[in-house]
Amino acid sequence: MPDAKVLLITGASSGIGAATARAAAGEGWNLVLAARSTDKLDALVREIGEDRAVAVACDVTDYDDQQRMADAAIKRFGCIGAVFANAGTGGKPGGFSGAPPESWRMLVDVNILGVAYTLRAVLEHVKAAHEDILKDIRESKKLPEEAQERLNDVINEFKKGFSATDGSSVAVNEAETEAMDEADVEKESVKVRKPAPKK
Ligand SMILES: NC(=O)c1ccc[n+]([C@@H]2O[C@H](COP(=O)([O-])OP(=O)(O)OC[C@H]3O[C@@H](n4cnc5c(N)ncnc54)[C@H](OP(=O)(O)O)[C@@H]3O)[C@@H](O)[C@H]2O)c1
Repeated sequence: MPDAKVLLITGASSGIGAATARAAAGEGWNLVLAARSTDKLDALVREIGEDRAVAVACDVTDYDDQQRMADAAIKRFGCIGAVFANAGTGGKPGGFSGAPPESWRMLVDVNILGVAYTLRAVLEHVKAAHEDILKDIRESKKLPEEAQERLNDVINEFKKGFSATDGSSVAVNEAETEAMDEADVEKESVKVRKPAPKK
């Protein structure tokens, strides 16, 4: 299995996606950078280094595009170790009551369907990249040390990506994540997984 330190990012042409790519490159990740604006992706690849990053044109609302993206990643780096399904779009001005209802379709297509398509297109590849760890988990029923380290790597990359942007809400996210130690993170995960009490 090739080095699984390959991160695929959708919406890598600007904002949080591009900032995450820069931070991850600094930590030694190879990068598959996907979005529609290939000019911006190509510039980012030149900045990071063509030996470490590849640009892939992908509209996340098109499943064929997503499959081509996954294929391009495998062709270039041999595996996909982690995925940041970050491509997204905001609503039209006017909010819920002011924006035309027909404008909502794009929000759902990109922000929900697009993420589901990304996960579907890459899932088998990501599982294959971590088959050794998955096997250990299946057999021992707990997260092995190496898996915890890889997970911490990914969390740290995302935190750096968030802190590298200027938005105030992002700054709050960073402050919150910085305030959590590993035990807190574990508690938060448990909280999230706990089913809501039946009424
Ligand atoms: N910034 C914030 O405070 C904040 C807060 C909460 C959530 N978010 C979410 O975090 C994500 C990134 O935010 P951001 O601030 O970095 O936004 P951004 O700068 O506008 O970046 C959005 C990225 O998504 C890509 N994208 C949009 N539609 C796409 C499509 N159909 N196919 C492929 N790529 C597409 C864009 O690339 P192309 O146009 O080149 O395709 C761009 O790279 C978004 O999902 C956003 O909703 C952001």
